[in-house]
Amino acid sequence: MIENTLVPHTAFNRAIKSLDQCFEYAQGCSEPVCLALLGESRTGKSRVLEECYVKYPRHRTPEGMTIPIVRVKTPSKPTVKGLVEIMLHDMGDPRSSSGTENRKTTRLLELMQGSSTRMLMVDEFQHFYDKVSHKVMHHVADWLKIVVDEARIALVVSGIPTCRAVLDQNEQLAGRFLAPISMPRFNWNKDDQREEFEAILAAFHESMSRHFDLPELDGEGMAFRFYCGTGGLIGYLVKMLRQAVWDALDEDRMVITVADLAEAHLRSVWATDGVASIRPFDLSASLEPNELLLSIAARVGVKVEEPAPERKAATRNKWKTSQVLSAQ
Ligand SMILES: Nc1ncnc2c1ncn2[C@@H]1O[C@H](COP(=O)(O)OP(=O)(O)OP(=O)(O)O)[C@@H](O)[C@H]1O
Ligand SMILES: [Mg+2]
Repeated sequence: MIENTLVPHTAFNRAIKSLDQCFEYAQGCSEPVCLALLGESRTGKSRVLEECYVKYPRHRTPEGMTIPIVRVKTPSKPTVKGLVEIMLHDMGDPRSSSGTENRKTTRLLELMQGSSTRMLMVDEFQHFYDKVSHKVMHHVADWLKIVVDEARIALVVSGIPTCRAVLDQNEQLAGRFLAPISMPRFNWNKDDQREEFEAILAAFHESMSRHFDLPELDGEGMAFRFYCGTGGLIGYLVKMLRQAVWDALDEDRMVITVADLAEAHLRSVWATDGVASIRPFDLSASLEPNELLLSIAARVGVKVEEPAPERKAATRNKWKTSQVLSAQ
């Protein structure tokens, strides 16, 4: 019920439209069209890729298999060998792991041409940037550029904003990219985004109310409680509603109350220190939008910085200043 509810909010529609355009015009374009889909974690990037991917399914023709879109997730430490194997595997090559790097790349290009592939989707693109060493995997990025150049297909990469570094530091790749598309976390202070968040709640309410008796999720006061609990991230909202549905099904309930939502929120949302200090679904507390609550909500889903390692205490200078000055 929750998974099948797709909310076509503005940013989602904008992203889908751009992907469709890239897909349509990739063929016959003299150079590859590249697009980056950027956004914080849980803003719905992979869902956009998924929805576009299912629109152009693989199918068999008398000439063979047509694979309009190849979609892969970047492994955590990408190498050319690893990436090309994943792509070959996705295209159904039974020998995806055999051959040298060059042989595999040639096979990939042949397969793409033979299968009339028009688009390559690379999710989790931030793995092209090693956040520990702060280095871009230039070798793999260059290889990707060559593949899309040779295959003349559209490239869509998606990831959290740190993946900008990969493009910023590779002028050849950057030059092939259109302006990035952002998947936002909704901002309560902006009227259009707040309305959008409320509309998302209304959409989930509609699909859940077909099966359950539940309070109006987008009703007076409730929408802000959801905002505080999810930080305006659609992924967190989906996760807590799914938990509420699982709990109701387990207990054979057809009713979901605010108390059940509170329980589902507690059980499903990973709350860091500051975020855990508010109980958004506690009806005994009035929850009016204010700076403090909004700043806490903005921290939902944001990683907590690791504390800086303690410095060794500086060894004290055994000499007094007067001694130093008088020393010959
Ligand atoms: N427009 C939407 N309508 C309904 N559900 C959505 C929508 N967008 C995202 N979701 C749901 O929210 C959850 C998180 O989305 P998704 O996995 O796409 O986020 P993401 O941006 O790829 O996160 P990450 O960066 O952590 O991979 C998923 O369960 C997804 O189905
Ligand atoms: Mg994702």
